[in-house]
Amino acid sequence: MCGIIGYLGYREAYPILISGLKKLEYRGYDSSGIAVFFKNGYNLYKTKGRVHELEKKISSYRIQIKGTMGIGHTRWATHGIPDNINAHPHVSNSNELIMIHNGIIENYYAIKIILLKNGFTFKSKTDTEVLVNLIEYLKKENKLSLKEAVRISLNEIVGAYSIAIVEKSHPETIIIAKLGSPLSLGINEKEFFVSSDPISFMDYTKNVLYLKDGEMAILKKGKDLDLRKIIDNHRLNPIIKQLKINLKEIEKGKYKYFMLKEIYEQPKTILDTLRGRLLIPEKIIYIDGIESNKDIFINAKCITIVACGTSWHASLIGEYLLEELTRIRVEVEYASEFRYRNPIVGKKDIVIVISQSGETADTLAALKLAKKKGAFVFGICNVVGSSIARNVDAGAYTHAGPEISVASTKAFTAQITVLVLLALIIGKYRSTINDRCYEFLCKELGSIPGKVDYALKTDDTIKKISQVYHNANHFLYLGRGINFPVALEGALKLKEISYIHAEGYPAAEMKHGPIALVDENMPVFVIATKKGYYNKIIGNIQEIKARKGKIIAIVNEGDIQVNMLADHVIKIPNISEILSPLITVIPLQLFAYQIAYIRGKNVDQPRNLAKSVTVE
Ligand code: F6R
Repeated sequence: MCGIIGYLGYREAYPILISGLKKLEYRGYDSSGIAVFFKNGYNLYKTKGRVHELEKKISSYRIQIKGTMGIGHTRWATHGIPDNINAHPHVSNSNELIMIHNGIIENYYAIKIILLKNGFTFKSKTDTEVLVNLIEYLKKENKLSLKEAVRISLNEIVGAYSIAIVEKSHPETIIIAKLGSPLSLGINEKEFFVSSDPISFMDYTKNVLYLKDGEMAILKKGKDLDLRKIIDNHRLNPIIKQLKINLKEIEKGKYKYFMLKEIYEQPKTILDTLRGRLLIPEKIIYIDGIESNKDIFINAKCITIVACGTSWHASLIGEYLLEELTRIRVEVEYASEFRYRNPIVGKKDIVIVISQSGETADTLAALKLAKKKGAFVFGICNVVGSSIARNVDAGAYTHAGPEISVASTKAFTAQITVLVLLALIIGKYRSTINDRCYEFLCKELGSIPGKVDYALKTDDTIKKISQVYHNANHFLYLGRGINFPVALEGALKLKEISYIHAEGYPAAEMKHGPIALVDENMPVFVIATKKGYYNKIIGNIQEIKARKGKIIAIVNEGDIQVNMLADHVIKIPNISEILSPLITVIPLQLFAYQIAYIRGKNVDQPRNLAKSVTVE
């Protein structure tokens, strides 16, 4: 996630850019920058930190930034840490082209190698600097106009982008283009506003054009909009719409609550987590922080995973994944417990810390303790540049985008996705998985976003089941193996947003106590996927039925046996057991949401909870 902005017209660009960037900060705020153009030159400022830091920096120079055209960016780092150098705009080697970008260019490395061979140099670690130099290279080599160089370069790109680019010697033209990342254009007589989100220009115009994937536009001062197809330069008729916005609504889109939006975003967020890391045709998995510490992972005797709440549930799933695929012993600990005992971790041990916010006080303290004891600490975080991300020895971001709802959903599946990648890479290094299994799981992993999309279609069934049970006072959630932590997560989701008491258990533990609770008033969720401990789970279902408990079962398409036993079934697509938590959790998230919604709760801000727990 990043926010991009641009202005071309007759007003001073600088204040428009700054106020627009502030409205885009929800898209990322680890660094920001602007470039404002004048005849044959430009003022470019960028800095680590939020937009107000940029403003402060510029005002400390006591200069007036004059110019009626400019571009700006607020960053959510993907390639390269958040710092002044990696911040946008990026400038080409000749200083002629200035560009901002939102998205990820997957084949940037291959392009960079070609450019390096052709004498190009790079200051930053970003994929954006590679793209702006590719445009420059093709422009010069083939004596092209900027428009043609941009078009041809974009046809070489694999990945997602929205860009705005300006040529220093033509400060009356901005070229913008989109594939995958959002881009809108505000249009008034004699002026254009460019933005990742029209909220940033709605004070100036309500006429908006939403660029479609594969489109580019050439914006020229005093000229009509020139909209083209990137693939073949075919000219298109712009369709201008009228903005009807309620500022709050636009952030939630069509959803009533952020939680529902975030649940529905998961096919995309999982894809974003995999992007540039899982290369399916080549059967390669690549994570920088692992590749550069390969030996530590190969020789590990034990891995301890430390986290809180939902991230702790993801850690438990990590335990199953890592032990199964790497044969390294894994321990999972609550950060709040780990930090106050004298844990046995030392040199050569790996401690993985998992945190959505990257600010959880207990997890941060556990991280510091592990480092003090000499362990190698690997972080899995969602918030770029957060305290945990800054303090680990190496790590991998989950790239799920800002999670606003207090109840974590998309961050959880993104964490599991990183853990799957981690287990597959380490398993491959250590030869604890054979090539066939590795290749099969890579392929299965690639199919996950589509299957999550399919699992979201259970929402109608779930709404009906929620109508039956919204008055229940207690719920049980049962799962076995890798789906036991999913049962825990389902119970946590329900209790935190609907305030209904819920417990998660390994299904076979039932008869060691909790079965005493079961009667006709006890709804029991059972994760009964085909490839798991299916026959054992059927036994557990029978035990509950014998005590008149109500069974809501999550089954695979085509299931017959559980279908006959359960009071309600929720059908999800088939997938390898080891990847199944990414699918089985979806109906549980939807159920928690629907129950809380029916009960009239504030889904996004449940009582007594906060998004980031920075106190212990
Ligand atoms: C539950 C939830 C919390 C967090 C926990 C850890 O939906 O969001 O349980 O998972 O507070 O937070 P992070 O992952 O930010 O360290």
